[in-house]
Amino acid sequence: MTVDDGAPIGIFDSGFGGLTVARVIVDQLPGENILYLGDTARAPYGPRPIAEVRRYALACLDTLVDMDVKALVIACNTASAAVLADARERYDIPLVEVILPAARRAVRVSRTREIAVLCTQATATSGAYDDAVAATGAHLTTIVCPRFVEFVEAGITGGDELLAVAESYLAPVRGAAVDTVILGCTHYPLLSGVISYVLGPEVTLVSSAEECANATYSSLAREHRLRRGDDGSRRFLTTGNPDRFARIGTRLLGAAINTEQVKVEV
Ligand code: DGL
Repeated sequence: MTVDDGAPIGIFDSGFGGLTVARVIVDQLPGENILYLGDTARAPYGPRPIAEVRRYALACLDTLVDMDVKALVIACNTASAAVLADARERYDIPLVEVILPAARRAVRVSRTREIAVLCTQATATSGAYDDAVAATGAHLTTIVCPRFVEFVEAGITGGDELLAVAESYLAPVRGAAVDTVILGCTHYPLLSGVISYVLGPEVTLVSSAEECANATYSSLAREHRLRRGDDGSRRFLTTGNPDRFARIGTRLLGAAINTEQVKVEV
């Protein structure tokens, strides 16, 4: 039996990138109420030490739990890498993150068993993707792509400068046996056009945002906590500047958003 559960899904990201996850969740589950928190005051998380990211991420997740969300979605690879081990113990509501769903999909679709992940420095340092594929026999190449986040946040998803940067980042996997590339940062789905252009049609891109949204659907369906209807509410909270969040967020979500500022003590 399905229980109609109107409490919101809490979606957390260091900033804007998680909106690519929110976008797929809104498409798949239009009836769900969404409460999104972007820690833009402390973003980007990618260059920070893992312990610091862990502290920030847990404070934000605690804030969402205090606001009575029915499930938590960690829509940030860097934060997922930092709290993967602790978050499931800490919260007693369904929790979905981005790394395991994306890694599982990549292992399933790769025929050569040669996979690459594009991610932030902190995600790479954590070894979370290496751990996720370790037991499968697949080989993982990790490529840190810090400038990709800068491009997305500046609203740039094409053009010569981005193409040159993408060609340089992706050089190690072009022409190699890699047939599957994980977009291991929630900003990167916005760059799938240029990434796919550089890598060619033989390489399958796995979006951690898409896989995370699918996992969210499955988790709520399993727990009988899906909300019926098609009129879900959407609230967007930021620890930073709400006007900037609304401007960039509207582009990433593909729909106009209003944003409220929230204080998260860390
Ligand atoms: N959202 C982050 C991720 O998926 C990238 C942005 C950041 O560095 O904060 O890793």
